[in-house]
Amino acid sequence: MFKILGTGHCLPERVVTNDELSTFLDTSDEWISKRTGIKSRRVITDETLSQLAAEAAHNAMEMSGVAPGELDLIIATTCSGEKVVPGIGCMVQKLIGASCPAFDISSACSGFLMALDVAAAYFKSGIAKKVLVVSAENMTRFVDWTDRSTCVLFGDGAGAAVLGEGDNLLSIKMHTHGDFDTVGIHGPKGNSPFETVERPERNSCTFMNGQETYKYAVGAMSGDIEEAAALAGIDINDIQHIIPHQANLRIIMATQSKLKIPVERFCTGIEFLGNTSSASEPIVLDIENRKGRFKEGDIIAFTAFGGGLTDGGAIYRW
Ligand code: ACO
Repeated sequence: MFKILGTGHCLPERVVTNDELSTFLDTSDEWISKRTGIKSRRVITDETLSQLAAEAAHNAMEMSGVAPGELDLIIATTCSGEKVVPGIGCMVQKLIGASCPAFDISSACSGFLMALDVAAAYFKSGIAKKVLVVSAENMTRFVDWTDRSTCVLFGDGAGAAVLGEGDNLLSIKMHTHGDFDTVGIHGPKGNSPFETVERPERNSCTFMNGQETYKYAVGAMSGDIEEAAALAGIDINDIQHIIPHQANLRIIMATQSKLKIPVERFCTGIEFLGNTSSASEPIVLDIENRKGRFKEGDIIAFTAFGGGLTDGGAIYRW
């Protein structure tokens, strides 16, 4: 299907610590750290999401040695885009100087894996030989900063991967369990004079049932790794590195204890990223890749869950 030729990421400059949040919210570093593992997050101030996405893409392109003109497709993922239209993929296409088609996928935190699944189909069909996947999220613009139960969880950032032909993706399997209530982001309220029903009060804000999301997340992430491993024909003990969606360290650790995979095999960045939705996996992938963590032949498992509800798993040989 494909091989990862390069990775990249870009974070906003501004670091916001838990202690800073406790200056204007009834919260504390102790509560946030204990419940989520998050110590700080990056927050967009004067940057734009498209700039972050383009910088992440640029870094991945540079590592891959692929020129923008060689790309056959750009798949972007976001649930917190800069604009409704144009999509972030189109903006990245302009900013990096590519000329291929580009579109966005909105699958919340599972977006990066959903993009890999779509990219795999393009490679399989022979339509594409070089694909850029870029995941960019500005979740801090889509939370209610007076709601301590959600706003402390999220951060902003972008991650990217350049894909070329290869057989390194051993399996990928995505799932959707259509659901309106567990976790989501309200749409813009609008001011149409023709609407006859009340729309949600809080305009474009993230809502969630934390405990339901937590239970769903642990079951989905562990089940998806087992399923992807079975499809790839490998034992879960053969997995050297796991890159889970970074929503909550406790969710990652509960997945770890369910699967009984050694804790040091889990790649995490939640401590300094917060939940960057679909961008979390490519950001962590790039950070660990640039540290030289992955050796040729290593088996990496990806797993994610998110609003939709969506979830999935993939097995990749480095
Ligand atoms: N600081 C201090 N206290 C808080 C805070 C806060 N930031 N937030 C909530 N509390 C309080 C609550 O009011 C409650 O108080 P009460 O007992 O007096 O009523 C108490 O803490 C416990 O609240 P819970 O919601 O029961 O806490 P829980 O242990 O469930 O942890 C959490 C909450 C961290 C959100 C957890 O449920 C979780 O991680 N869920 C999954 C979230 C997730 O993964 N979301 C991803 C969705 S992203 C997307 O797809 C858009």
